[in-house]
Amino acid sequence: MTAIRPLQRYREAVVQIRVGLLGCGVVGAALVRLLSEQREVIAARTGIDLSIARIAVRSPERGRGLDVDQSVFTADADAAVAGEDIDVVVEVMGGIDPARALLGRALELGKPVVTANKELLATHGAELFAAADAAGVDLLFEAAVGGAVPLIRPLRESLVGEPVERVVGIVNGTTNYVLTQMAETGASYEQALGEAQSLGYAEADPTADVEGHDAGAKAAIIATIAYGAWVPAAAVACEGITGVTAHDMEMAARFGYVVKPVAVVERSGGAGGDLELAVRVHPAMLPARHPLASVRGSFNAVLVEGGAAGEIMLYGRGAGGRPTASAVLGDLVDAAVNRSTGSAGRIGKLGRARIRPIDELESAFYISLDVVDRPGVLAAVADVFGRHRVSIRALEQHGLGADARIVFITHRARERDVGATLAELGRLEVVNELGSVIRVMGE
Ligand code: HSE
Repeated sequence: MTAIRPLQRYREAVVQIRVGLLGCGVVGAALVRLLSEQREVIAARTGIDLSIARIAVRSPERGRGLDVDQSVFTADADAAVAGEDIDVVVEVMGGIDPARALLGRALELGKPVVTANKELLATHGAELFAAADAAGVDLLFEAAVGGAVPLIRPLRESLVGEPVERVVGIVNGTTNYVLTQMAETGASYEQALGEAQSLGYAEADPTADVEGHDAGAKAAIIATIAYGAWVPAAAVACEGITGVTAHDMEMAARFGYVVKPVAVVERSGGAGGDLELAVRVHPAMLPARHPLASVRGSFNAVLVEGGAAGEIMLYGRGAGGRPTASAVLGDLVDAAVNRSTGSAGRIGKLGRARIRPIDELESAFYISLDVVDRPGVLAAVADVFGRHRVSIRALEQHGLGADARIVFITHRARERDVGATLAELGRLEVVNELGSVIRVMGE
């Protein structure tokens, strides 16, 4: 019997597409390796032979142990964009400058761009999307949100006609790892973060992750693509996980919740009129049965709630060189195929959206208070909640004497009213300390 040799069938139809790669860190090096492994398969399946023509790096002389000729490395980033031998530009250098100018130049030259740069897209995306639209070329960025998890393409292609009501995601692996460890081992925030750092999940300076900025940029990109309207990172209300305590974790479990770092993008207000969105990032208590509650460790997942499709959940590895390179390579093949056929997957013209201030949103809340334990204290505290129209659903008291702690779960209430409640509680003589305040979702 003759062995099937699928690659042979396509050999003659192969189109050469040469790649200019900007950056060769963890993701760039993983991309070069993955492409080298998959090159033949890609050629067989698509008729495109992808090769790396140039790699722009700061130190071209440094050995990187990659299966490319050393002469491919250059310090001249412009040559990796504008060179005549470059058909598609892939950017994995990160940061705003010089990536912004380099990608702008690539698009101006009519070259498709693939990028993993969430910070750039969430800050200057409008300018880059408009440049790609004007040039009629691809600007693809699957790797910018959720690493290997295919999210951008489903949102912009499969779900383009879907009335998306809400997207709720765990889009930061570091914070998901930290909160999972706290919940499962009883570790403090500091202990869990230290562990995340020693395992290489968290950076030496974890600020962007733990303060919610990384997830905020991703939420902005999700909002832009899910609703076809430009939402910059600056419009996203971000709250980090640094205030979550081991006691909150214990209480969450007692009430049947799991604390997760969520990004929420939702249509807000009634139908008709201008598009209004609410976009925010914060830790949240989710019921243990919620689909995102079982997303543990450094994994990412995104739950799309559509008016027609219902719930769709996408799950996988949100970070790491090889998973992220997988998403970049998928985009690269797409861009190369489009380039060879003279088409492009457009984002189209982005509209505008009003971003609803977080003060106007509603949520249920978990609130922890350290109070003096004596007759009348609960009545005084409950009176403050009541006067600000914040209704209590459940409460539990721990400790005695001077060290009592009461935790409350409220019904849904306006953020502004909860803020006013907390301000007044903080002034009560019987309240020793305002503890954690965590939104409760999915009830
Ligand atoms: N630092 C991010 C995370 C990965 O922990 O998920 C890159 O976006």
